[in-house]
Amino acid sequence: MVIFIHKMMAEEQKPSTADSRRVATTGDIEVSTYLEIAKQARSEPSAHPAGAEPGAGREAIIILDFGSQYNLLIARRVRECQVYCELLPHDTPWEKIAPLNPRGFILSGGPASVYQTDAPLAPAYIYEKQLPVLGICYGMQVITKQLGGVVSPGVKREYGHAMLQVSAVDSPLLDGIPPATPVWMSHGDRIEKMPPGFYTLAHTENSPAAVMGDGQKIFGLQFHPEVAHTPEGKNILRNFVYNICHCQGNWTMGNFISSSLSGIKEQVGDGRVVSALSGGVDSAVAATLIHRAIGAQLTCIFVNNGLLRRDEAERTLKVFQKNLGMKIVYVDAGDRFLQKLQGVTDPETKRKIIGTEFIRVFEEEAGKIGRVDFLAQGTLYPDVIESVSSVSTASAKIKTHHNVGGLPARMTLKLLEPLRRLFKDEVRQVGLQLGLPEEMVWRQPFPGPGLAIRIIGEVTREKLEMLRAADWIVMNEIKKARMYRQLWQSFAVLTDLRSVGVMGDFRTYGCLAAVRAVTSEDAMTADWARLPYDLLARISNRIVNEVDGINRVVYDITSKPPSTIEWE
Ligand code: XMP
Repeated sequence: MVIFIHKMMAEEQKPSTADSRRVATTGDIEVSTYLEIAKQARSEPSAHPAGAEPGAGREAIIILDFGSQYNLLIARRVRECQVYCELLPHDTPWEKIAPLNPRGFILSGGPASVYQTDAPLAPAYIYEKQLPVLGICYGMQVITKQLGGVVSPGVKREYGHAMLQVSAVDSPLLDGIPPATPVWMSHGDRIEKMPPGFYTLAHTENSPAAVMGDGQKIFGLQFHPEVAHTPEGKNILRNFVYNICHCQGNWTMGNFISSSLSGIKEQVGDGRVVSALSGGVDSAVAATLIHRAIGAQLTCIFVNNGLLRRDEAERTLKVFQKNLGMKIVYVDAGDRFLQKLQGVTDPETKRKIIGTEFIRVFEEEAGKIGRVDFLAQGTLYPDVIESVSSVSTASAKIKTHHNVGGLPARMTLKLLEPLRRLFKDEVRQVGLQLGLPEEMVWRQPFPGPGLAIRIIGEVTREKLEMLRAADWIVMNEIKKARMYRQLWQSFAVLTDLRSVGVMGDFRTYGCLAAVRAVTSEDAMTADWARLPYDLLARISNRIVNEVDGINRVVYDITSKPPSTIEWE
């Protein structure tokens, strides 16, 4: 209750900024999006020639999206079975699906009720093409309604754990599934009467037809196999793609890399590509892949905004310039950013200034390169996915913040986005296979505006130095304790608060630093990490002893919501 009231008050007080200023992403997509804005400011259309997309023509499972919050998870689970999977709007025409080489369909869950008059249903090709279909929750009800069964509002809403009792142990969909296994339910309506020709394959206490099938190619699951609460869910999906759809399992990152290399070569030809490096994993993997495909036709621009962590610029340069031999234009623009940030204390103004300045610097540098044909970006699948409302994507949120001039008129750039089909975990695998250091591939997300939003109040050179030193200690100790990968983010914040301390015979009046460490799946929600006391003690001791100007350290023990991960 306390949390709820707190949140309501925050929303009431700040109606316009509460939602818009937060960008749940890493610095990579932020930088990518700045560039896209700069490009669009000259009304250049984005180009995604379907034929040149890496891997086009592979086998695919298509999820038709009826709006469930778990849909991206279904796609990830299918891909974990080494089968390519795309999530498309439920009314996608067959002409758009055929080139993807579909081997089967999954009809997703969703919030609607099939007995409503305007309920979304599956297109006719789902039943006409003789391809396997798996309906999940709402998707199962869609099948039931369209094939002549009856769906009715459940007497009792079934939400949470249920025990699945398998009756058809010989069904290829349930091959190897124990006779009784927990599943995760989330539905109100239920199957009153299955369509003609369908059989019950498993039931729960409240759902007589928790799994149904027509004995051939069409199946329905009343529960969610994609969530962790359904421990056998992944095996059921695996059975669907292999035993029912007869997929080969050719979606491996090795195959992705080789088809990407030829796809990039074909798309770029003898053109020239420019890319922004941010030190984040997405832009790093995209640049490495492109570099491997076209070598010196790629130029990377690395804008050091002066808001990076200790050694970050040097390490990034070392990997790309020295180790991989890439052509890099390094711009040390720290003074310029600091000047613009002088006297600025409002977090949102800081973000705007940094984004706009980044585009200006990039424009200037790109203008010096000469002819360029493509702009490379590390955009990932969750941010391009068609079924996600465009206003909710990270890049859409960033775009609302910036209003800039655009790249030089003679630059007619097309977008090159080699990772736009990948999830983050797949990008990491690609990065490792391309030989990028683990440190870079597993880097925790770092926000585009960098340390500027971890210094409360005005950003100055002195404060940056203090924060860098404190942050270095946090990172170092967390890595030594082998906790870095388990945490979504871990970092130091420099507050604008001072407090009294005593060091030796002297009284001090120094700054307060905060340590923040959180666990999270996607940054939309987060919990504060229960770091061991000894680790916290080491961090605190080292910070006050080694960082001049900081004499007190606190640990942030709030979750998100009601707090955010960053302090600004
Ligand atoms: P919050 O603080 O909103 O952060 O809980 C959620 C995630 O987003 C990151 N973040 C940003 N990333 N530009 C970015 O590129 C930003 O302005 C920004 N603000 C927050 C934050 O680090 C966390 O991963």
